[in-house]
Amino acid sequence: MKSSSSSSRGDRRLSILSGHLAPRTIDKEGSGIFCSPTSAADSVFANVLRAPEDPILGVTIAYNKDPSPVKLNLGVGAYRTEEGKPLVLNVVRQAEKLLVNDRSRVKEYLPIVGLADFNKLSAKLILGADSPAILGNLVTTVQCLSGTGSLRVGAEFLARHYYQRTIYIPNPTWGNHGKIFTLAGLTVKTYRYYDPVTRGLNIQGLLEDLGSAPSGAIVLLHACAHNPTGVDPTLEQWEQIRRLIRSKSLLPFFDSAYQGFASGSLDEDARSVRMFVADGGECFIAQSYAKNMGLYGERVGALSIVCRTADVASRVESQLKLVIRPMYSNPPIHGASIVSTILKDRNLYQEWTLELKAMADRIITMRKQLFDALRARETPGDWSHIIKQIGMFTFTGLNTKQVTFMTREYHIYMTSDGRISMAGLSSRTIPHLADAIHAAVTTIV
Ligand SMILES: Cc1ncc(COP(=O)(O)O)c(C=O)c1O
Repeated sequence: MKSSSSSSRGDRRLSILSGHLAPRTIDKEGSGIFCSPTSAADSVFANVLRAPEDPILGVTIAYNKDPSPVKLNLGVGAYRTEEGKPLVLNVVRQAEKLLVNDRSRVKEYLPIVGLADFNKLSAKLILGADSPAILGNLVTTVQCLSGTGSLRVGAEFLARHYYQRTIYIPNPTWGNHGKIFTLAGLTVKTYRYYDPVTRGLNIQGLLEDLGSAPSGAIVLLHACAHNPTGVDPTLEQWEQIRRLIRSKSLLPFFDSAYQGFASGSLDEDARSVRMFVADGGECFIAQSYAKNMGLYGERVGALSIVCRTADVASRVESQLKLVIRPMYSNPPIHGASIVSTILKDRNLYQEWTLELKAMADRIITMRKQLFDALRARETPGDWSHIIKQIGMFTFTGLNTKQVTFMTREYHIYMTSDGRISMAGLSSRTIPHLADAIHAAVTTIV
């Protein structure tokens, strides 16, 4: 297990206060350099270093600059139609029409914790309508800025109110996780997750690493559709993980960015979370509606904290308000109104589940077509992981050199770890991708 860098809140404050002193330690993104200008003509920011592009969003920037007509962006995790276009769900359009036509709606501020209906319905969606935790008022839910904001608010709360300051995140994981928790002041360590040999779960390594974590440590878990690997534990493995986590009093923090997107079923994709809530223990859940409702840019999400008593839950909520208020005061109204309109209307909800299933099914079909195309080309290697992995991404196993080759020769863009977004593919583009993979693995070892 490796410990990644962690700057404590105290260190950051010290750096800022000593801003007029000589340059201090600089991290690889260029923060931490503080100088006063040497002449009046100098900018006070003359020493600001150019930061590297975000590894995922940087792929899109490179793609946008490429004039090739055959270019393909498989970097970003956003759903595309068969025609390669972004999709606004029909239910979202219907909900927006209802909202626009409702003259009683105003644009006043929401409360600090967001839209009450949205929070209730979000907790029900992830925990199940009949969840004893909800019925017993053990859950506090606050509307946050999509999945990222929910993780960040949870992280800030933990840094202030939880006795353990270490969080274990899977290796590998979504690139933003480490930064979110480190910036909140927690110490980030990793646990083994992916086995590059089997291209599956390293359950032994996972259990060993969590088994040696200090009691009370926080554990980040992907509820389903693990990003970037597409490898999820089986239900039996989840049960092993749950037992270990509870026996060591570790604190589970679920990141649920893909509910319904993995299997096509909202309930199925929530099973891991519900297993942990059913045992009566505490847990955190960050939900995002970016992928499953296609509300990426609306920034709609929720943080739920499941507590042991209703009294603790209400005290926790009072402290969450103190985290949120100085950060962004209160969350935006529009996206949360769309979500609650859909979740509370039986017909819209039903239609949403169908649209969601259609997106998940299209991704599963893309997996099958890519697998078949590689088999047809007799591309060296066992590509069965493409159909075994689940969710938006496939962790192809292509190395950085092969990825660079595919970008240079075939104008195919993806993150350097070989992760491709299956949602960015179509029947039309699969032959081009299969040709590129075939050329990459037969040309570059
Ligand atoms: C695992 C994981 N968590 C959280 C997020 C956050 O997404 P958003 O902030 O857009 O909801 C993503 C987005 O790609 C993700 O893959």
